[in-house]
Amino acid sequence: MTIYSTNEWDQLKKVIVGVPEYAQIPPMDKSLRVINYADRHSIEDINVGPYPKQVIDESNEDLDIFVNFLKGEGVEVKRPNRVPTGYYNYCPRDTVFVYKNQTLAAPMSLRSREKEFLHIVEHLGNNFTIAENYQKDDMYDLDCVGDSEKLALTEVAPKFDAANIIRANDYLLYLVSNSGNKKGAEYLQEFVGNDVKVKTLEKVYSYMHIDSTVAFLREGLLLANPSRIKSRDMLPHPFNTWDIIWSPEPVDIGHYPGYCNSSKWINVNLFSINPNLVVLEKNQEPTRKALEAYGIECAMLPLRHARTLGGCFHCCTLDLYRK
Ligand code: NVA
Repeated sequence: MTIYSTNEWDQLKKVIVGVPEYAQIPPMDKSLRVINYADRHSIEDINVGPYPKQVIDESNEDLDIFVNFLKGEGVEVKRPNRVPTGYYNYCPRDTVFVYKNQTLAAPMSLRSREKEFLHIVEHLGNNFTIAENYQKDDMYDLDCVGDSEKLALTEVAPKFDAANIIRANDYLLYLVSNSGNKKGAEYLQEFVGNDVKVKTLEKVYSYMHIDSTVAFLREGLLLANPSRIKSRDMLPHPFNTWDIIWSPEPVDIGHYPGYCNSSKWINVNLFSINPNLVVLEKNQEPTRKALEAYGIECAMLPLRHARTLGGCFHCCTLDLYRK
């Protein structure tokens, strides 16, 4: 079994699950300032450096439970190398895009994450491409600080994290935000070719990644975050014709004091094992009920530091094979 995946819901056979070791908040640079902290006027209180040991240890405990669950479902599980990196190896979703048998190391928005794919590269198959990654100062626009209408990235070159994309076979949904520019969507369209259509989602959420805003559950059914997608008209065709489960309010699991890398909407950041079974953070009972009404069973698993580290089950995985 090598690589094959064209959507977010087919039966999962092989996946990479992230690791928390050596996770750190890197020293401030222009990319980090405008992408992660555009909503803050002052960044003096940001804790730079390694995450607390408790966060790493408890995340390992929770991810071990997740890995054992996946193995019980017959899924082959790979892990990144447990080595220091510029940022972390906790969210393989962010760095590599998988479509059919192709894998693409994305032109990462943060400078500190440029080489992160190297720690999973041995699992990425033979049809692997590294996108050119432009990182000069004119890539980043300081005017976005305090202005959520202005994006952190300019359009001087394609720039996106792989987690700005979700897949639905012949259509891909690409979020234009601080972690993905319009040129990036054009680059992605060229990469996948004309049989697949890249659709952009714009002016709904300016921060990191698409996967706490929309989740594809199966052909014709999606889960949407109603605090960002206010009506179906905000989705591009064909997604505006799909059935929509409007996500219930998340149960806020909080974060480690002084460390928060995510909104409370980790309930949308679920991970599908197949069209009838998803992994959901264990406190998200209202979302469980909403999904069960559509015949989707939920495995309720812990991930105590999902908000602290900035990723729940969709973020901390990268599906390599679904069929
Ligand atoms: N950046 C997103 C992802 C969370 C898992 C958010 O904060 O909503």
